[in-house]
Amino acid sequence: MSTILDVQGLTTVFKTHDGDVKAVNDLSFSIRAGEALGVVGESGSGKSQTFLAIMGLLASNGYSTGSAKLKGQELIGLSTRELNKVRGLKMSMIFQDPMTSLNPYMRISKQLSEVLVQHKGMSEKEARAKALDMLDLVRIPEARKRFDMYPHEFSGGMRQRVMIAMALLCEPELLIADEPTTALDVTVQAQILDLLGDLKREMNTAIVMITHDLGVVAGICDHVQVMYAGRIIESAPVNDLFGNPQHPYTAGLLASSPRLDVVNGDEKLVTIAGQPPNLQRLPAGCSFAPRCPHAFDRCRAELPLLRKTEDGTAEDTHVKACHLEDHKGLAA
Ligand SMILES: Nc1ncnc2c1ncn2[C@@H]1O[C@H](COP(=O)(O)OP(=O)(O)O)[C@@H](O)[C@H]1O
Ligand SMILES: [Mg+2]
Repeated sequence: MSTILDVQGLTTVFKTHDGDVKAVNDLSFSIRAGEALGVVGESGSGKSQTFLAIMGLLASNGYSTGSAKLKGQELIGLSTRELNKVRGLKMSMIFQDPMTSLNPYMRISKQLSEVLVQHKGMSEKEARAKALDMLDLVRIPEARKRFDMYPHEFSGGMRQRVMIAMALLCEPELLIADEPTTALDVTVQAQILDLLGDLKREMNTAIVMITHDLGVVAGICDHVQVMYAGRIIESAPVNDLFGNPQHPYTAGLLASSPRLDVVNGDEKLVTIAGQPPNLQRLPAGCSFAPRCPHAFDRCRAELPLLRKTEDGTAEDTHVKACHLEDHKGLAA
């Protein structure tokens, strides 16, 4: 399968009054056509900034080095003008709050069709027809009746669908979803995840699903990467990661998320003791060592680099950044 996004040595730094904050630290990974990649980790681990850097949407005190290529085109360092030919067209990003993408004062019909008129050169009539099809595709009931409404006339879940429709209008090859369901109730959350799964199958869109919730990735992701303090610490096919986590941090995350297969809810949830490190003063060795129940001297002295573990499949490898031997038995 062809590579859609190829990231090599991506680093993102924010300048602040009291020094540089390294939010993304030498990240390398890739995504293939039609693949859904889950990106998980605690709040503050660098999930959002990684993809905001790729989209060219960092806050003004931030800058990136390294490389992120979308189908061979380098994105890091592109001018706003060049980025505008890529964003929304070849890659789109959706957020927890749909109102970051929707204009509250413009009818949905207008917001959607305008994109197609501007970027695809469609006539007003063609654009309206395609926009309406899109609302059907994201399963807005009675789309025709709602087409000319304003965003505030939609429920939260429906607004999320409209934002997804907007992101997919120009059929991008990459859709980045940043905690798209966090603000929704569980039923609506499941519907939106189903929808994204179907879109991936029907349109072969590569999807990045950013979430702090491992349960969310289980349903639709093929591969998962776990971030800690701005670095990838484990990356694996989804079943390997859940069945045979190799990094103690991943095992801790699994132990602290509610199990999808336990219905009566009497399983014990364990939280990971301690706090993530200060990104302005990262430890010399493994960033997780101060919280790790398995840490030994080498962990505190030497940064573990990503290396292959024994499992993984021929097409998809399982890697971890940990000095521990490969083992079975970290699974909760
Ligand atoms: N504009 C900024 N200036 C300084 N630090 C920032 C800025 N934006 C984000 N950060 C820091 O970058 C780190 C990673 O943030 P983020 O990628 O948003 O985390 P998350 O994994 O929760 O999505 C956080 O510790 C945050 O404080
Ligand atoms: Mg985030």
